[in-house]
Amino acid sequence: MTLTLEDLHFLTATGPVEASLPSVDAATPITGAHAPGLEIVGAGHRVPLADGSHVEYANLDHAASAPSLQVVKDAVDAVLEQYASVHRGAGFDSQLCTALYEGAREPIRAFVGGRSDDAVLFTRNTTDAFNLLSHCLPDDTTVIVFETEHHATLLPWEKHTVVRLPAPATPQAAVRAVGDACRDARRNGPVLVVVTGASNVTGEIWPIARLAAVAHAHGARIALDAAQLAPHRPFSITDLWVDYVAISGHKVYAPYGAGALIGRADWLAEAPPYLVGGGATSTVEDDRTVWKPLPDRHEAGTPNIPGVVALATACHALLTTDRDALVTAERDLTARLIRGLSDIPGVTVHSLFTGGASVIGVATFTLSSLSSPVVASALSAEYGIGVRDGAFCAQPLVRRLLGAAGCDSVDGTGHAVRASVGLGTTTEHVDRLIAAVTTLATEGPGLRYVTVNGRPQPLRDQRTLPKIVAWQ
Ligand code: ALA
Repeated sequence: MTLTLEDLHFLTATGPVEASLPSVDAATPITGAHAPGLEIVGAGHRVPLADGSHVEYANLDHAASAPSLQVVKDAVDAVLEQYASVHRGAGFDSQLCTALYEGAREPIRAFVGGRSDDAVLFTRNTTDAFNLLSHCLPDDTTVIVFETEHHATLLPWEKHTVVRLPAPATPQAAVRAVGDACRDARRNGPVLVVVTGASNVTGEIWPIARLAAVAHAHGARIALDAAQLAPHRPFSITDLWVDYVAISGHKVYAPYGAGALIGRADWLAEAPPYLVGGGATSTVEDDRTVWKPLPDRHEAGTPNIPGVVALATACHALLTTDRDALVTAERDLTARLIRGLSDIPGVTVHSLFTGGASVIGVATFTLSSLSSPVVASALSAEYGIGVRDGAFCAQPLVRRLLGAAGCDSVDGTGHAVRASVGLGTTTEHVDRLIAAVTTLATEGPGLRYVTVNGRPQPLRDQRTLPKIVAWQ
């Protein structure tokens, strides 16, 4: 399918976003193939193994970065045909790109169920969105955050007073801890609670609506890191009653370098520009600069127009498909993944909450007999499976999950393996992983591994990287 600019009408239309993609027949189980209308670029491509043979790539690393939807790539290709800078150009293509860029805010607002008066600001990703929010908080704000967060959610608040809460044992304990912390902090000025919707390490879904209720009961605001939740579950700012949401395009099948911060406009409007330069100013005199209102105020410089169109297209595609059918299919795949891994002797699948919690398609595990870097390298070299190993930019959480025994004695960092599913995942990918981990746990790797640049590599490796761009 080739998109034309006419197909991008939803970016420039006013009014509610309407369904235009084919929906999934809920009666048809999706056993891991891509949902209709949500085909993945590069699906089914083959990769080499260390022995020189080739297999279909099993991408089980969606939590790190998801591949592009075909409709997203088509949208970007269509925009590039008439690419021009936004806002200040008089040319026709500039007007078109301005309409697309500004129009992109509405599908993104609709995707997260934003309020009509919420600001929708374009960022690079979730990390950038929370750095922007931190920049805009009133000076005397106290930020409350659990130590279990991704570093993007844990760290950007350093210029404020930070209350770092210890890992809660249950969702109920998380709600209690936030209530207590908000009550204590409220005396000193504004309070912001920052929390993930779903952990990038354990996949566990956090009790956002209850956390928002308790935060608001104490007069605090709450920001939701929806980087991992957004690709896997529909949610709504208004239903959850949160104040801010951050998302990353590269987690929602739009890996073109754009993300967004959506939320209450007041603090964002009052803060000085996040990035100072052209586009954020209305008047520049010798001794005086007048900054524009939102959204331009925080979007100085020529923006990432293809990235923004990509993000809005992915949001529109996910919003207008049958999301319930996708959630059901992904739940089945996730259950198959977690059950399969948990049943392997010597394998531990890690979770934070005792008593269980709903999870998105993420499973982090360790083998008692083999180090995580070797497991991840062997899965790639011997089975064509892509996973991530390490601490997943959540070192305090991974240290806690693994305990001292699972951590590097030199730097104290934990190393685990993470498998994560998404729209491109098939049951064959999941079954191949379970079979491979079973073999690794019972027989060890089939090859000998040596350390090259700090990573295990097969001693004999016939793989070479293909030449895919001119300058390689
Ligand atoms: N946040 C990404 C991850 O969890 C990079 O892997």
